[in-house]
Amino acid sequence: MNKQIIINGSHNKNGNTTKLIQEIYPEITTLKLIDYTIEIYNYDETYSDKDQFLEIINQILEFDEIIFATPVYWYSMSSLMKIFFDRLTDLIGSQETIGRKLMGKKVRVMTTSIGNHLDDKFFLPFEETMSYMHLEFLGGKHYLKQK
Ligand SMILES: Cc1cc2nc3c(=O)[nH]c(=O)nc-3n(C[C@H](O)[C@H](O)[C@H](O)COP(=O)(O)O)c2cc1C
Repeated sequence: MNKQIIINGSHNKNGNTTKLIQEIYPEITTLKLIDYTIEIYNYDETYSDKDQFLEIINQILEFDEIIFATPVYWYSMSSLMKIFFDRLTDLIGSQETIGRKLMGKKVRVMTTSIGNHLDDKFFLPFEETMSYMHLEFLGGKHYLKQK
């Protein structure tokens, strides 16, 4: 059985991304990044006691497949999700032991946006990051907000 977890990168707890997830994946465990404190990456890779990045990673480790769900903010992933992605750097540095446990997991991406102007280029940062970290990228899908 493929256990999936959705990582919701919306800045709006009950916004379009949350509604879309509830509509198409009502059964899947979802974690909202907005509910956590994730400090921005720093080159020392040291963070305050408030930082919850590793808490999120430890939850993700319980699952085989990760679905990143992000609203499109200015043609990109949300800044909250980008902060999370920058912190993945820790997992090839100071937290490499934990990072190795992520290897081989499967990854999908879903977006929500209002404009029908995106193609697969949007997913490049996801695909390349997962390749670099030895996770398996299975593809992405864009969803237009229902009016
Ligand atoms: C800061 C910001 C930037 C946005 N940029 C885009 C964009 O580049 N393309 C687009 O189609 N929609 C854009 N939108 C619209 C959102 O992608 C869309 O409303 C999305 O469904 C919001 O999801 P949320 O409610 O989970 O935040 C933007 C919205 C915001 C708030």
